[in-house]
Parts: sequence; structure tokens; C-alpha cells
Amino acid sequence: MTLEQHKYLLDESQMPTNWYNIVADLPSPPPPPLHPGTHQPIGPDDLAPLFPMELILQEVSTERYIPIPEEVQQVYRLWRPSPLFRARRLEKALGTPARIYYKYEGVSPAGSHKPNTAVPQVYYNAKAGVRKLTTETGAGQWGTSLAFACALFGLEAEIWQVGASYDQKPYRRTLIETFGGTIHRSPSRLTESGRAYPEDHPGSLGLAISEAVEVAAQDPSVKYALGSVLNHVLLHQTIIGEEALLQLELAGETGADLVIGCTGGGSNFGGLAFPFIREKLAGRQSPVIRAVEPASCPSLTRGEYRYDFGDTAGLTPLMKMHTLGHDFVPDPIHAGGLRYHAMAPLISHIYELGLMEAKAINQTDCFAAAIQFARTEGIVPAPEPTHALAETISEALACKESGEEKVIVTALCGHGLLDLGAYESYLSGRMTDNPLSEADLQAALATVPVV
Ligand SMILES: Cc1ncc(COP(=O)(O)O)c(C=O)c1O
Repeated sequence: MTLEQHKYLLDESQMPTNWYNIVADLPSPPPPPLHPGTHQPIGPDDLAPLFPMELILQEVSTERYIPIPEEVQQVYRLWRPSPLFRARRLEKALGTPARIYYKYEGVSPAGSHKPNTAVPQVYYNAKAGVRKLTTETGAGQWGTSLAFACALFGLEAEIWQVGASYDQKPYRRTLIETFGGTIHRSPSRLTESGRAYPEDHPGSLGLAISEAVEVAAQDPSVKYALGSVLNHVLLHQTIIGEEALLQLELAGETGADLVIGCTGGGSNFGGLAFPFIREKLAGRQSPVIRAVEPASCPSLTRGEYRYDFGDTAGLTPLMKMHTLGHDFVPDPIHAGGLRYHAMAPLISHIYELGLMEAKAINQTDCFAAAIQFARTEGIVPAPEPTHALAETISEALACKESGEEKVIVTALCGHGLLDLGAYESYLSGRMTDNPLSEADLQAALATVPVV
């Protein structure tokens, strides 16, 4: 009997040693961030109060490859290279001729892709002598990752978690504290940004960012770290796609026909997709690249492409991105990591260039897919990647109709073992869908600054 291989694994010595910067290969550069007062492009010095210079230089770099420091590689090797699985049981259950691969990031200490950027961010801050990092977290994956990385490099971590997720996922709090981080429910009473809202407000990522930025800006020994959206964050995540390309080769594939990832701020999607877009631009592969977002927070599919703030209080530079409005508060869906009002400027630009597609899905459809995935592949997905799985299953079923043997690669960017409240809500029939209404969208867009 021939062996049906399930996992494609790389040895630690085969782990990629560079991050890939897609800016070097795009036909045009993304529009620059602007100073909110002057509306002029900001320079590295404008970002210096919040970030160490090495990260700022990565943010504006046009170099194609950026070496991963040895100290970061050593930490990555605790869980990387991560496995690429062939979803053989799911394929059989669907009766599809498609070959489905998922790149699984749930093997990391936090249970998701977020440590891929937390580790280098903390490393560069530690090198710059920073004492403490502040941040926001939605689902809690990013806060956990930052607390973990801070523990390794001897920094303090202070984290504001979006209120709705803080209430839904109490064990995330415990995990963050286990790694030595301090965590607050956002909106908190500790900041002016937080005090502008009632204490029991469900919060939003934009508001938690305002709180973390406000605290970091007041103390030169404290800096701020962001878990998604910015160029350097997406850069660090490209190790996912670089590994996946090598692993597909191990599986005997010449490339992918379809690459699917979920998008909150865009980092796991960009991390998987950018190396595939490089291959596409170079004419070596021709995959369709598709982002999937929640119908309750559809920044790419229904937002406007214009300059807006990255946070609710308007403390950040203005960035050109697909936005629903910086003070938009999405429905408290269970995929807390996808409740961001905008999309990474780099992904927004790539979307405008026509190099990728986007789609929005309701959460009950996502959880139906997650249950099918768990019952065949044995992994309980985090609520965020259930969006990518729902689209993967729908494409695999389309292949069943058409008879096409497509190679589908999807990002299973985290496990859901600390998100069981969401599963409980779905299984008991209590989960509802609340797609964004046109009236709410127009009201939110009304506050976007005119540049
Ligand atoms: C498991 C998981 N997936 C996806 C996301 C969304 O972020 P991004 O779009 O940056 O990958 C998050 C954010 O918290 C997350 O925790």
C-alpha cells in the first residue's frame, strides 16, 4: 500500500533565514502614511516615540529580503518550521478532486501566527534598551504572543484587551498573566481614550490601540507594538509563505491554484500570500489569491480606500487603506481578531492593483465549516481562520462540480482551544449573524477625515 502522507515537515536547518518584502516587487509603491496635522508624508523620526529605529527602517524598506537575526531564528526554532498538512480526510468527506493543504500556525506558544512578529518586535526593542511594551489585543492571541516574547527578552508587557473578547475568553487573560504580562479590559479607566467610553462598552481594536499608544507616548522608556496592519508586521509573517512554498514542493506540487486566508488587519494572510504573489509576479505560478473577512466587519469588500486613522482616538498617522471609519465598532462576533475597522495599507494597495480578491462571510457559515473541519482533520480552528476554511470548503465543493483538481492552500493560523465559548454558542444554536447594514456603514464612514 502506498503511504498517504499527511504532514510535510521541514527540518530546523531548512527554516528560511530571510523575510520577504513584497514592496520590492510591486509595480508601484504603497502610498505613504501622512502626518495628521500637516497631511505631509511622515518620516522615520515621526515614528521614533513609538517604535525602535530598526523596526522603523523595516517599515519603510524597499529591500527584497531582510535577514532574520540569529537570536530571532533561535526562538522561532521552538516551534518552526510549522507543518503543512494535506487535508486528506476533509477531501474525502467532501468528495472533492481538489487537493487541500493547510499551513498550521497553531503549534506556536500562543497557538497562532502572532509570535512570528512578536519575537522580532521584542528583540529589536530589547536591543534599543526599551523597558516596557504596550499593546492592544483582540482575541488575545497577539497579547499572549507579546507577553511570551517579552518574557524571553526581559521586557514588561502591558496589554489592553478589547472588552467583548476579554469577557468571552477569560483563559486568554490567565495565559497572558502566566507569561508575565499585565492585562486590562478596554475601555479602561487608565487612559483618556478609554475614559471617553462607558466602562461596560464592548470596545474595539481601534480603541484598545488608542489606550496602548497613549500610555507609550508618555514615557520614553516605554514603546508600543502592533500585532498586524503595519508593513514590518506583515514582513515578519512571510516566513509562513516561504515555508509553505518549500513544503508544497516536498508534496510534489508545482504550485498553488488558489491561496486563501482570513483578514483582520491582514498579517496572517499577507504572511502566507506574499511569497505566492512574488511567484505570480515572476510568472512561475498563477494562483488566485483570496482574502476572506467577516460580513460584520467587511473593510476590504465594503470599506472605502482612503486615508484614515489606525485607532479610534486619532493618535496614529493617517494611512491609506480600506476603512469602515476609525470609530466604527463592529458587532461582537466571536472572531475577535477580525474586528478591525480597516485593512493593512500594503494589502489595500495590492488589492487596488488587482493582484488579489476579497470576500465577506457570515460567522454561522464559518462555524459550520469549522465543525466539519474539526470532525475530519481533528483540529479545532480559532474563530478567525474558520473564514478561510469556509471559503476553502466552498471552493473544494465547486471543484467537485467541475471536476477540477485544484491545489488549494489555506492558512490555518491558529487553534481555538481557548475559544470554546464560541463553539458552545454555535452548537447550542445561539449564534447569530449580524452583517453590517448600509446605514451603519454610511454613519461610520462619515467620520473619516477628508484629506
Ligand atoms: C488566530 C488569529 N487569526 C487572525 C487574526 C487576524 O489578524 P491578522 O489579519 O493580522 O492575521 C488574529 C488576530 O488577533 C488571530 O488571533
